[in-house]
Amino acid sequence: MNYKNEIAKRINAITNVEVSSLEEYIEIPPNTELGDFAFPCFKLAKEMRKAPPAIAAELKEKLAEDEVISKIDVVGGYLNFFINKSAFAKNVVTEVLAKGDDFGKSDIGAGKNIVIDYSSPNIAKPFHIGHLRTTVIGGALYNMYKAAGYNVIGINHLGDWGMGISKSIAGYEMWKDEYTFDENAIYSILAIYVRFNKLEKEDPSMTDKARDVLIRLENKDEETTKIWKWIIDISLKNYAKIYELLGSKFDSYNGEAFYNDKMDRVVSMLEEKGLLKESEGAKVVEMPEENMPPCIIITSAGTTIYATRDLAALLYRIENYDFEKALYVVGSEQSLHFKQVFKTLELMGYEKYAKSCEHIPFGLILDENGEKIGSRKGGKLPTLEEILNESIEKSLQIIEEKNPSLENKEEVAKMVGVGAIIFNDLSNNRIKDEIFDWNQLLNFTGETGPYLQYTYVRTNSILRNANVDLSDINTDELLDKEAIEVIRKLSEYPDVVLSAVNKNEPSLISRHLIDLAQCFSRFYNEHQIICDNEDTKKARVALSKCVGTTIKNGLSLLGIQTPEKM
Ligand code: ARG
Repeated sequence: MNYKNEIAKRINAITNVEVSSLEEYIEIPPNTELGDFAFPCFKLAKEMRKAPPAIAAELKEKLAEDEVISKIDVVGGYLNFFINKSAFAKNVVTEVLAKGDDFGKSDIGAGKNIVIDYSSPNIAKPFHIGHLRTTVIGGALYNMYKAAGYNVIGINHLGDWGMGISKSIAGYEMWKDEYTFDENAIYSILAIYVRFNKLEKEDPSMTDKARDVLIRLENKDEETTKIWKWIIDISLKNYAKIYELLGSKFDSYNGEAFYNDKMDRVVSMLEEKGLLKESEGAKVVEMPEENMPPCIIITSAGTTIYATRDLAALLYRIENYDFEKALYVVGSEQSLHFKQVFKTLELMGYEKYAKSCEHIPFGLILDENGEKIGSRKGGKLPTLEEILNESIEKSLQIIEEKNPSLENKEEVAKMVGVGAIIFNDLSNNRIKDEIFDWNQLLNFTGETGPYLQYTYVRTNSILRNANVDLSDINTDELLDKEAIEVIRKLSEYPDVVLSAVNKNEPSLISRHLIDLAQCFSRFYNEHQIICDNEDTKKARVALSKCVGTTIKNGLSLLGIQTPEKM
């Protein structure tokens, strides 16, 4: 039962205002004693040409109280609705139990394609913490859009072309005999890159060496291409470990190099439209009206560049995926880049698609002192693999302490350790900086991933211990204040998922799950679940099951697994 929709329909019958707008106006009062839903009558002041209190009085007069809405109050310019709790509890609990894993899913996106460009690391380096946020946020969006019925295409736009990788190749050619390339080859390749950069600072001729490599790559020189492919291979092997741990899914790994043969077309299209201007030896698209610097398409050295590749990628994505939306989950420092690229696409005549492109930025990761992580001088930036393994290790220690007899401890520690890192990344508005603090993110009683996993496990053990048949439940046993609060949170969950999708904001789901778990905890502390009265017990067990189901579903959207025991 969608109460907002029910109330909106009733108001619509009187005012003729569209149901969808009415539905949007309806609020949830801050305090449930005021009512379950509130309608702010000032929203209709224009249409009805009356003061809000008069509108409220008129609507109240004409609205009937019935099976669904048990009471309507006028408070100032507000109409406050009290729903029939008994029907409410029954509807919600029945729905969650019936839908199970599908609770929270919808089909609003049916038949629509969404492209999500995320993770997209630069090749030839071990995966470092700088790419954690895009990977985790992008992964959550991927799951959320899928749950809303969209056809999602996850793209890992690898940074596998250009001067960066050319430096690694140039260094490799000079020094390969000094390093070993076993299963940790990626670290040797990184060391070579670091050494090359250091040397380059003193000896600018090194840059020419890298440029020479790039020219060879562009000319498809066989030997150079072989090394390039080998480095990509080694990098992808390293990333695969991370993606496996984080549960990241991609439908395409077409990176920058994939567009090498698709750039001429972009350049000639821009030329045909008269959009390319000469500027200091480079070719650029000017965007004076937007108050933005020009978008460089061909550099003064005659080469294409990051933006050219993104334009080629956009044409490819338009033609192959005909997307409803294209999301780019990339740090806010690339904000200007995406504005320029989307504007250029618009100038090329693709207004509709340009409007459907969206940059999804996010904040930095700071350490517990509020400093940019890894900024401490001399401190080596840990790789993401090291961080994830440390988290798993710490979780294992906690499990060893708290529940030494647990079966498959290692597996559970993996879910908890990785879940803690993912949840920490998604627990606040994505644009806010993330604080990375071990004591916080692994705190089993704080607002953390492990806390939610633990709550799920608790509902699970209630279910096991009670061992009751949940087919015939008297939900009138769930009308106490604490149970109703839990039911309210359950009922809001599907809407929360949809707003999270609409705002590309996974944290709405994380926050809601924390609220739900806290409401459940109050219910659990206040009421004995396994009690003598069979009816009461069954209803309370059923409610616990609904909570577990919702937490599990929500966590899985965030990319977090739930152990059955921990
Ligand atoms: N490789 C880039 C980086 O690490 C991110 C690429 C984002 N995607 C894109 N289509 N530009 O900064």
